Amino acid sequence: MRVVEAFRAAFGASPQTVWRAPGRVNLIGEHTDYNDGFVLPFAVPWGVTAALTPRTDGVIRLLSLQSADGEPVVMEAREDSRGWTRYVVGVLAMLGDRVAGADIAIDGDVPQGAGLSSSAALEVAVASALNDVHGLGMTPMELALLSQKAENDFVGMPCGIMDQAASALCEEGHALFLDCRSLGSRSIPLDLAAHGLSMLIIDTQVHHEHAGGEYAKRRAECESAARKLGVPALRDVTDLAGALARLQGDERKRTEHVVTENHRVEALVGLLRAGAVTEIGALLNASHLSLRDLYEVSSPELDVAVEAALKGGARGARMTGGGFGGSAIALVPVERLENVQESVSAAYAERGYHAPRFLPATPAQGAHRIA
Ligand code: GLA
Repeated sequence: MRVVEAFRAAFGASPQTVWRAPGRVNLIGEHTDYNDGFVLPFAVPWGVTAALTPRTDGVIRLLSLQSADGEPVVMEAREDSRGWTRYVVGVLAMLGDRVAGADIAIDGDVPQGAGLSSSAALEVAVASALNDVHGLGMTPMELALLSQKAENDFVGMPCGIMDQAASALCEEGHALFLDCRSLGSRSIPLDLAAHGLSMLIIDTQVHHEHAGGEYAKRRAECESAARKLGVPALRDVTDLAGALARLQGDERKRTEHVVTENHRVEALVGLLRAGAVTEIGALLNASHLSLRDLYEVSSPELDVAVEAALKGGARGARMTGGGFGGSAIALVPVERLENVQESVSAAYAERGYHAPRFLPATPAQGAHRIA
């Protein structure tokens, strides 16, 4: 394994443990996690592998096979972390006294900038490896929560629990139905091939700069709407018409999205349980329109990808993840895969957009030890 070889070359001994954690796509349930709602992500075949040996002197030495110079970054203190190293150091910081330093080599193959949660994969891989070598006995959900806390408190991104939970808990061939309030979860079989279907990721290769600020703004709008409605979170809205009558402007639109999106997650899970996989397309489409028009987190590239995929024969399509660029997913009958790709590529070329990248997504295994 090349990450083990790189570890040996850099640090002069074999790593004590090696863990792999995947990225994710979200089938449905967007911007619902921080509203105590429901999500349905699945792990993608790409992820991050972390080879690790603990240290006792507080020093952190980090090597990434993806960094240009191939030299380890050596940090004497947590404050020394910059850029991508913050995701790793944040996890160590959240473990406090339980962990001193570590030698870590990282190898990742999550397509960068595609919105497939490479940062969650990195956090969960490192958290899982530390849990293992220190015998901390943390559950996958506890590791997900720790990783989220690292991202919230150390990196400063106010994300919900979805990405880290997906990376830690997903099972191969399944989507993860997660209640983001109780943190109860269930694996739902997702055998697309058995229905002659494929899930195509359309990576727009565009990531808009303002995404972080807009994310925090949406979150604040939802919290403010919940306060006005006198509920702990938008998850608790039962009378949608009554709630909308009491809100205005953006808060009204955000609320309508979140409440209807939660119902779409439950409906989609119902269809999957009934084996009506082909029928989920309509819910994917409705989710996209809601994210575009009510939550306002789509982008022209994502909208064109969705429209062109449908034109090419997809049963349904939507943006996935936080939005403002990143990827869309399309549910495509296998015999239409080529048509859909041609349709999207042609629509992009016509508008002078950067060519999109197509990736087939099959539900993969969550975090696991590989050596
Ligand atoms: C990002 C966040 C998640 C979630 C999605 C939107 O991926 O990290 O917690 O809020 O956006 O559904």
